[in-house]
Amino acid sequence: MSATIIDGKAFAAGLRARIADGVTAFRTQAGRAPGLAVVLVGEDPASSVYVRSKGKATREAGMESIEHRLPADVSADALLALVATLNTDPAIDGILVQLPLPRHIDEQAVISAIDPDKDVDGFHPINAGRLATGLPGFVPCTPFGCVLLLKSVLPSLSGLEAVVVGRSNIVGKPMAQLLLRESCTVTVVHSRTKDVPAHIRRADIVVAAVGIPQMIKGDWLKPGATVIDVGINRTETGLVGDVDFASAVDVAGAITPVPGGVGPMTIACLLRNTLVSAGRREG
Ligand code: GUN
Repeated sequence: MSATIIDGKAFAAGLRARIADGVTAFRTQAGRAPGLAVVLVGEDPASSVYVRSKGKATREAGMESIEHRLPADVSADALLALVATLNTDPAIDGILVQLPLPRHIDEQAVISAIDPDKDVDGFHPINAGRLATGLPGFVPCTPFGCVLLLKSVLPSLSGLEAVVVGRSNIVGKPMAQLLLRESCTVTVVHSRTKDVPAHIRRADIVVAAVGIPQMIKGDWLKPGATVIDVGINRTETGLVGDVDFASAVDVAGAITPVPGGVGPMTIACLLRNTLVSAGRREG
């Protein structure tokens, strides 16, 4: 039997259309558009592509996109000064500093300098703490998009066994928190885990965010499992996920493709967070 393919592209398009309606209502009420500032340091090709797509999607949703491009050798002080200016600019509702940053800049210091109430990436330690303690805040976009996709195919997540593969601050850790919030039983496996396949075999839900091309094989999966593949790995044969799609599609109950699965959800959730921020700030 072949799995249901979770169409993240179509789901994200629907979400973006609803956000655009919300933006229209916000503009009427507030007399301005929500504003998202995106900061790109250097010219990393992948980051440049992401920043361009974020800007395009922001404008398409009727929001203001403010882009700041800084040279790779910009000083940490200059970057922090820009963040401070954006923090106090009333036209800016969301601030995103594209990661990774050049090695001479302390990423954590920059993230921590962003006003937590404009931190639409949800990376600030205050927002991580809010997520962990159940307080309202901003949730990182990629894991939030994964939960929306899971809910689109599963009637309830409560009580399900979930395995998150990878423990990054951007995806793995917040993903585990979100699944816990949905009352899943959550296991996080990582590079030091002794027997990764043994954990995955028990999982009703697998979220793969490890950055290793096609690592997770179909015969590691529990039949009928829902598989969310966050991986975007560039290989000689093109873009592939962290899951070996060809073998997994015969075992899983539902699975996201790469591309066209989680990827489009990240930007849609960023727009959502920006609209939510604008609403709170005008509130
Ligand atoms: N680099 C890769 N993904 C992301 C993201 O979601 N936000 C930011 N700021 N940088 C990233």
